Amino acid sequence: MLPKAEIHCHIEGAAAPELVLRQAQKYGVDMSAFIRDGSFVWSDFTSFLAAYDAAAGLFRTQEDYALLAETYLTSLAADGAVYSEFFTSPDHASRAGLSPLAYTDGLGEGILRAKAKTGIEARMIVTGVRHFGVGSVEAAARFAVECGHPLVTGFGMAGEERSGHPRDFARAFDIAREAGLGITVHAGELAGWESVAAAMDHLRPTRIGHGVRAIENADLVARIADEGVVLEICPVSNIELKVFASFAAHPFAKLRDAGCRVTLNSDDPPYFWTTLKREYEVAAEHFGLDRPALLEVTRTAIAAAFVDEETRAALLSRLAPGES
Ligand code: ADE
Ligand code: ZN
Repeated sequence: MLPKAEIHCHIEGAAAPELVLRQAQKYGVDMSAFIRDGSFVWSDFTSFLAAYDAAAGLFRTQEDYALLAETYLTSLAADGAVYSEFFTSPDHASRAGLSPLAYTDGLGEGILRAKAKTGIEARMIVTGVRHFGVGSVEAAARFAVECGHPLVTGFGMAGEERSGHPRDFARAFDIAREAGLGITVHAGELAGWESVAAAMDHLRPTRIGHGVRAIENADLVARIADEGVVLEICPVSNIELKVFASFAAHPFAKLRDAGCRVTLNSDDPPYFWTTLKREYEVAAEHFGLDRPALLEVTRTAIAAAFVDEETRAALLSRLAPGES
């Protein structure tokens, strides 16, 4: 099986409907508005977030989160992944009544369990939620820096991209960067190329979540390629959220051909009826990537991963012999 790596997945968005329904039963919550026939139900970004927030609200204890991370990472490893970096959201934990520290410890425990079973390596990126405002994103950055968890190695921002301007969030990103955390930010998904340029100017990320709408400006595409900023591309998510009308209209191949460093990711897999394996299959089928090109995508993800150099070298050595 082709070795894979994922660097853009929201842990709350990785909870499969079966697991969410088990949690709903545990807490006596009716989820019929959000899950029907074993599938999440939503129609646009707003209703997607509503389903996502309702499901996230069913993970309430440290053990619930350990189970979530263990379950997701075990399935990812079965699909050939050797590495996973997932986004955490202390705000979602607080809303579910759990302290961010207990939440992070639970997820860390799940990582260790999955690693013991499958060998998969994983790290956490603490995110602020953009539409919760500057204060909450700065608090998330301070938490990321102060929590001291060895598997928290990055900081990022997700949520409604059309809310606020990147310059408003510069201080949060400065706090995280100055403490040595890796930096990524969602941009160029729900908003256009200007959003990507502003995120690069004000937040100085080494990676951008999505970034695909950079394709609207050739100079910006050249800048991304020149600066070596890595794009965390989530093709199926982009189609399901109607960022692009079809895989034929998706800019993955154009960005790659222009010299941008690209990776493949599942974002919120069960919400978009995808898996990391499917993302690689889509890239083969629709973007023309052969096996060496797909392996290069995995290598790019590991090169851009927020890990120490010893771990990076160990991960690279796990790519197929003769191909790494
Ligand atoms: N949070 C979870 N999934 C997201 C997405 N695709 N865009 C922005 N924020 C998110
Ligand atoms: Zn995302």
